[in-house]
Amino acid sequence: MKILAIESSCDDCAVAIIEDGTKVRANVLASQEKIHAAYGGVVPEVASREHLRTIYPLVEKALKQAKMKPEELDALAVTAGPGLLGSLIIGINAAKTLAWLWNKPLIPINHLQAHVYAAFLDRKEDVKFPIIGLVASGGHTEIVKIGRHGEYKYLGGTVDDAVGEAFDKVARFLGLGYPGGPAIAKEALKANTKKLQLPRPMMKEGLEFSYSGLKTAATRVKDKPEEIAWAFQESATDVLVEKLYLAAKTYKAKTVIIGGGASANVRLREKLVERMKDQSAELIIPEFKYCTDNAAMIGAAAYYVGLLKKSQWYNTRVMESA
Ligand code: KG4
Ligand code: ZN
Repeated sequence: MKILAIESSCDDCAVAIIEDGTKVRANVLASQEKIHAAYGGVVPEVASREHLRTIYPLVEKALKQAKMKPEELDALAVTAGPGLLGSLIIGINAAKTLAWLWNKPLIPINHLQAHVYAAFLDRKEDVKFPIIGLVASGGHTEIVKIGRHGEYKYLGGTVDDAVGEAFDKVARFLGLGYPGGPAIAKEALKANTKKLQLPRPMMKEGLEFSYSGLKTAATRVKDKPEEIAWAFQESATDVLVEKLYLAAKTYKAKTVIIGGGASANVRLREKLVERMKDQSAELIIPEFKYCTDNAAMIGAAAYYVGLLKKSQWYNTRVMESA
């Protein structure tokens, strides 16, 4: 089963071709990072225009990379949300047009769910249920339980800012540029005293998160930028690790998965490996390129979840009953 997937929910325009949910036949991306960096954050209007410019060439590039013709595809998949509306519309309309032209089914995919399914890419072994997943991105911070494919239960999330958003805002305050996650991580490596302590909000309170207070604390404290970056990163990642540990234990997870841009954070990955050692659950940490936005994860989610939900597929043909 070969699925061509399109992702355009934010500032990355991406196309992938995934076979049987795991084999990545093509994975191409046009990052708009440099364009938005000049503004210190994603400008929705600019993002939409860039998607419009890059999307079809990326589809061609993906087919070429996979050495495939459209006829060989079984279906198309596209991110249906959540995301920036103008950006989503470009991807959805491109996918609808191609599905109509090539006469293929079109599967809409939830972007957050797809971040968890990134863990299925390039994998040979089965993934055991229940899965506890953490989606930590620029817009979301949530812990979910997947009892089986197609079942996606929200267990808890942020009551204010998303973790990636907090990274971005603190980085901007420290003058480190955009995107903030990698910039803070890099700055933190220069810290040497490592004495500064910042709050760890809601650390012991169930599966909810709060990042707004930590963000404010990081911008009020007086210290060197590298020490602030270090302390902020420690607090932000400690909370993620603790909550994920708690969820895994409470729900007797067989697999623990992290996804979303902030899951690319190296300190988070190190600490999680350490913390999960006494748990029998398998910890799957996707490769960096599958943590940040990409279309390969959309193709994986389409295979495992989208195929089960036929009633939700987009109809690109004239409906017989209409
Ligand atoms: O999943 P993603 O690529 O796009 C969204 O769906 O939001 O996530 C982007 C977010 C940004 O806030 C970025 O600062 C954060 O992920 N991020 C990181 C790292 N790399 C990206 N946060 C912490 N550490 C990183 N290494
Ligand atoms: Zn994302």
